[in-house]
Amino acid sequence: MEQRQLGRTGPRVATLALGTMGMSGMYGPADRAESIATIHAALEAGITLLDTGDFYGMGHNEMLIAEALAGRSRDQVLLSVKFGALRGPAGEWLGYDARPAAVRNFLAYSLQRLRTDYIDIYRPSRLDPQVPVEETVGAIGDMVKAGHVRYIGLSEVGATTVRRAAAVHPVCDLQIEYSLISRGIEDGILATCREQGIGITAYGVLSRGLISGHWRTDRQGGAGDFRAHSPRFNQANLGENLALVEALRHIATSKGISVAQLAIAWVLHQGKDIVPLVGARRRDQLREALGALEVRLTAEDLSRIEQAVPPGAAAGERYPSAQMKQLDSERA
Ligand SMILES: NC(=O)c1ccc[n+]([C@@H]2O[C@H](COP(=O)([O-])OP(=O)(O)OC[C@H]3O[C@@H](n4cnc5c(N)ncnc54)[C@H](OP(=O)(O)O)[C@@H]3O)[C@@H](O)[C@H]2O)c1
Repeated sequence: MEQRQLGRTGPRVATLALGTMGMSGMYGPADRAESIATIHAALEAGITLLDTGDFYGMGHNEMLIAEALAGRSRDQVLLSVKFGALRGPAGEWLGYDARPAAVRNFLAYSLQRLRTDYIDIYRPSRLDPQVPVEETVGAIGDMVKAGHVRYIGLSEVGATTVRRAAAVHPVCDLQIEYSLISRGIEDGILATCREQGIGITAYGVLSRGLISGHWRTDRQGGAGDFRAHSPRFNQANLGENLALVEALRHIATSKGISVAQLAIAWVLHQGKDIVPLVGARRRDQLREALGALEVRLTAEDLSRIEQAVPPGAAAGERYPSAQMKQLDSERA
């Protein structure tokens, strides 16, 4: 698989990366054996970057990755880990903690669960409003010096925070939602990252399945599925959003590809500094996502896509309102 450089100072990684969140309950139940088979299939296809969070299934996701990587050489894969989200025993969300002591504490536990002695890219999942980002990044920088972390990343922060963080320590990438229906980063964040030499790892490129071409009006997110509470999936907005998908399907069919492949290819065509994190949790989904690497979009294709789904076309915000308020990226 072709490689892309993550920012001016970051590692080279395969053009598509795999995010494993959906394998630990965030989208309802997942099959453990199929999850591990999907991680193996991703590595065999040439994917090199796996993204997780210590709070995905309260450690479940990291332990799953460790099991999938058992017996493999550690340097064949890059691990990106998010930390900072606090959860309770019933899975409830309790806020964020990105104080320097918390950074070291979270990291120590992640290293154990991942059965490794270093993490390739370590990042706070959200800005902790109580802690200046300089302190959080400074603390991760100390962990880089100590050899426990290789690179520093950010997640869902705005342009001002990106600049403040990068002034303390080189930042290799900003992980942020970016898709045909979530284009907020085009209003300044993407330009700031480019100016600062910071890459983008784009998540939600299929908008959590909404624009995969496989979501149906009669499908409900079950218990523990983020989508059960997501404004874009609720009944008031779903029909409008799936109408956008049908417009995309028309274009995809004319090119002999699937809607998911068109949506991933569109992100791939937005710049060589962008690496989509696909959220496949089964091998068939992974195969479909990998097909996007073969898709070439002409200027005419791109303009048809933009006409079918203009910026701001989605009905509903990308997170429920309480979670929108936690996004520094939506403030700057
Ligand atoms: N930094 C952050 O704040 C943040 C937030 C969210 C995610 N992330 C990271 O980004 C990764 C990807 O995010 P995401 O899960 O929202 O991504 P996504 O790729 O937009 O959505 C993945 C979901 O789409 C559905 N799907 C249908 N066809 C698919 C196909 N061909 N390939 C892949 N998925 C298909 C699947 O749902 P069904 O199986 O239910 O059909 C799958 O779980 C996560 O795993 C996580 O590592 C980061």
